[in-house]
Amino acid sequence: MASLQSSFAVLYTTPKPRNSAFMKPSRARVSCNGGESGGGRLDRRNMLFGLGGLYGASSLVGGRKAEADPLQPPDISFCDHEGTTTTVSGRVVHLDTDCCPPDRSERPMEVMSTRTPTSRFFSFEPTASLLPRRLYTFQPLTVSPPFTDKVEEHMFPLIPETPRVRPAAHRMTPEYLAKYKLAIQKMKELDTTDPDDPRGFTQQANVHCAYCNGPYDQVGFPNLDIQVHNSWIFFPFHRWYLYFFERICGELIGDPTFALPYWNWDHPDGMYMPKPFTEAYSPLYDCNRNQTHWGDALVDLYLFDEGASVDANLNQMQQEMIVQGDTALNFMGTPYRAGDPPHGVPLGGTSERGSHIALHVWTGNPQNPFHENMGNFYSSGRDPLFYCHHANVDRMWTIRNDLHPTVPSIDDPDFLNAAFLFYNEKKKLVKVKVSDCLNYKNMGYEYEASDISPWLNYVPPRREIPANVQELAKTAQATKQAFPATLAETIRVDVAKPSKGKADEVLVIEGIVTYSNDELIGFDVYVNDDENSKDGPVSPERAGGFTQIPHRSRTAEAPSDLRIVLTELYKNINIADDDDIVVVTVVSRYNGGAVTIGGIKILPRVPAA
Ligand code: C2O
Repeated sequence: MASLQSSFAVLYTTPKPRNSAFMKPSRARVSCNGGESGGGRLDRRNMLFGLGGLYGASSLVGGRKAEADPLQPPDISFCDHEGTTTTVSGRVVHLDTDCCPPDRSERPMEVMSTRTPTSRFFSFEPTASLLPRRLYTFQPLTVSPPFTDKVEEHMFPLIPETPRVRPAAHRMTPEYLAKYKLAIQKMKELDTTDPDDPRGFTQQANVHCAYCNGPYDQVGFPNLDIQVHNSWIFFPFHRWYLYFFERICGELIGDPTFALPYWNWDHPDGMYMPKPFTEAYSPLYDCNRNQTHWGDALVDLYLFDEGASVDANLNQMQQEMIVQGDTALNFMGTPYRAGDPPHGVPLGGTSERGSHIALHVWTGNPQNPFHENMGNFYSSGRDPLFYCHHANVDRMWTIRNDLHPTVPSIDDPDFLNAAFLFYNEKKKLVKVKVSDCLNYKNMGYEYEASDISPWLNYVPPRREIPANVQELAKTAQATKQAFPATLAETIRVDVAKPSKGKADEVLVIEGIVTYSNDELIGFDVYVNDDENSKDGPVSPERAGGFTQIPHRSRTAEAPSDLRIVLTELYKNINIADDDDIVVVTVVSRYNGGAVTIGGIKILPRVPAA
């Protein structure tokens, strides 16, 4: 057993240089204190503490309708300009940052609105019916062509466009790189020349913040935020977000074929911060990144505390893409419907919880109060690398579907009809549905191919001689006595198997509750490991784990279960044919004292849609 890693250290206040073997002396960097190149510098002068009791006490909201409940798009006229929060030790902290889209009711340039300021719902009334009153109320000005907050249904171009082909960031030609730089530069210029232009860089970053850090309520559920993470809408929301971001880039540089580069972190050649993003004074630079992760630092796809390795990364990719992501819901995440309280991290899909979160945390600056920029959802979109990271996340969705062509996809109408609002490249506010983004090729883009064989064909380590589980069990507790328990100390329990030996089974870590949404929390789970063996991310006994990215949540998150498929693991550890128990070890990786586990059990696996 590796040394107990239980720890109360908060990563962002006591940064621990990891991957030191890969660290290189830094190249020239721009400090965050001066000459920052846009993207919204943090200003916390007016940060307010102390509303936590108020919000923290509000309980879950019931009242689900019996009929269809797809998530509704927000009513942006009710965006809370002061509603951007994160959570610190259970208290809601208001951030001095306004993530709402430009507020039309305060700006004297609107002639197109069809919505009355008090309406809770969208109105599709003809413009003319409101025009006269509006003209008295607002003096129309010509500040660039006005954008509109009239909601339209999104339509794909009638004549198919030349597909936009997203290239791997580390293979971009200098000419291509220049396009992305120019696009980001133009977006950042809009921040100053026309801050209300919804295509500006800060406005685009705010889109992400508004959908995950509190400003929007769910329509009809004023106590519930819209939260686009940790559920089945994670992939669709981000696909649409990138779709519009990419088209805005193309529009601003006058290139309708422009496609976002993707950060190819699943391939050994791309497992580094892409170089162009680390050049000082480039529009792609962001000073709010982990300063030790420049140059040759290897990315760490599951934040293994012992240091990253290519093998660990490949193993992680194989786990989340194939082994654990074996059903549509396992891969995509659990159902999230109108009226649902925010989900905790375990309810996200395998890829969201794995490589996706890992790269956010790996990129963000652990010395910033909330791991800004990439390490917290409210600030992620301020880093131009975010969009390249998410292009690869989206690429993983496309690849996963190609790899599992026969696995049924989600056909629940609450998934298909969930909807969002975005400003498009023409500054029009459009409503989009999940069902319209499931076939990405219809959306006019594709990915330049990159070799996935390194993780597809990765052979995890295997053990020849089965562990003697009776011996191991002597150092383990009975499950009944062990739970509930925090992970301040390692937990080691024996767990009964429904069937003997190499069966098709799933381990369920039940009732996970995290106490602090602002902390990085992580643990690893091992099966039949021996107390003296060296644990590592790629040991045959490592079953999986859990990582919580610091995030906010106004309402209490329901306890959630983590499922880990054991079928492959049983082969890798060569479990003995008549074993009817296993010993499960749960080891904290980060802040184990801030998480409680309700129980552990093993169930027969029932593949679900
Ligand atoms: Cu919406 Cu990677 O986050």
